Amino acid sequence: SKVTVSLIKADVGGWPGHASVHPALIDKAEEVLSEAKSAGTLIDFKVMACGDDLELLMTHRLGTDEAEIHAIAWETFEKATAEAKSLKLYGAGQDLLCDAFSGNIRGMGPGVAEMQFTERDAEPLVAFMMDKTEPGAFNLPIFRMFADPFNTAGLVIDPSLHNGFIFEIWDILDHKKVFMSCPEEMYNILALIGAKSRYVIKRVYPKPGGKLPSEEPVAVVSTEKLYQTAGTYVGKDDPVALVRAQSGLPALGEVLEPFALGHLVSGWMRGSHNGPLMPCAFEDAHPTRFDGPPRVIAAGFQLCNGLLIGPVDLFADVAFDLTRMRVLEITDYMRAHGPFEPHRLPLEDMEYTTLPHVLKRLAERFEPAE
Ligand code: 13P
Ligand code: 13P
Ligand code: MG
Ligand code: MG
Ligand code: MG
Ligand code: MG
Repeated sequence: SKVTVSLIKADVGGWPGHASVHPALIDKAEEVLSEAKSAGTLIDFKVMACGDDLELLMTHRLGTDEAEIHAIAWETFEKATAEAKSLKLYGAGQDLLCDAFSGNIRGMGPGVAEMQFTERDAEPLVAFMMDKTEPGAFNLPIFRMFADPFNTAGLVIDPSLHNGFIFEIWDILDHKKVFMSCPEEMYNILALIGAKSRYVIKRVYPKPGGKLPSEEPVAVVSTEKLYQTAGTYVGKDDPVALVRAQSGLPALGEVLEPFALGHLVSGWMRGSHNGPLMPCAFEDAHPTRFDGPPRVIAAGFQLCNGLLIGPVDLFADVAFDLTRMRVLEITDYMRAHGPFEPHRLPLEDMEYTTLPHVLKRLAERFEPAE
């Protein structure tokens, strides 16, 4: 039977501020998920953290959007929140927007990346976790993995990748989705996903007739934007993604290579600034410089009948050191712009703004310009 991998995350309290997850929360999460594993609901799990985000990676046989699994995640976040409250951590329960669980965790605050697939003879899997940015931050790297021949040599030289992939893209403002074929529709795909605050890659599928079943996703990104649920832009949507690799898919190194750029993403301080995304080791995923710069960690696994053999801390590789140095230089350069765009986000993308209040106070003093 097929395996389902569910990566569900929430910020249930920062230590201190928005910097990291307190170990007590990780212990609590491990305790709750251990029970679910003993009960046989979960095959396996790993609790991880990126910045102030608590990350639950779970494997099971129940499929995606499954109430029982989502309930376990919700219960874990609630118990971790109680722990966070008892320690008076910052923003305890930040991402839990609803009081009661009602069958599906999507739209309730946590981010969700799940996929169900047939486990291959060898199944390399990468869990990417980002802090201080938004789901659109995955557009560029996922595109480059599955569509850019300058990144993924296999698209050109491996017959099993040569036909390309199908991209499922969501319009997160209009709640619509479209499936697009690459490379045939590459320029149209880029026209959408370049606008990363609106069009977000949700899943990637193999094409029919290839090595892998075309109805089983090979990559999935959490696209939960909390402003949909909260009504106002709260922007606490630090994203996660799952990507499968090798044998008809990008090789592990092709999956990681896009992060050597340190591309610009929005988020950072108060969710309202552009800055470079730093790939880093697990132990360095505690963003404190201006609450950043934004971080991404990559946990590598081989699946073994649903067991998670890992994690390997993939960005701990010294080969990403130069990326990190460049990110630090860009950090200085961007910071020097202070409150000016494009370091500060344009008005419509900021998590909050004082401008309406400022304008109100100045209303009497504005006069016609010539
Ligand atoms: P596979 O076809 O086994 O994925 O080989 C590609 C590879 O590992 C090159 O780095
Ligand atoms: P988080 O989204 O990681 O909670 O950070 C929010 C923030 O305001 C950082 O300055
Ligand atoms: Mg936080
Ligand atoms: Mg966060
Ligand atoms: Mg955001
Ligand atoms: Mg955030």
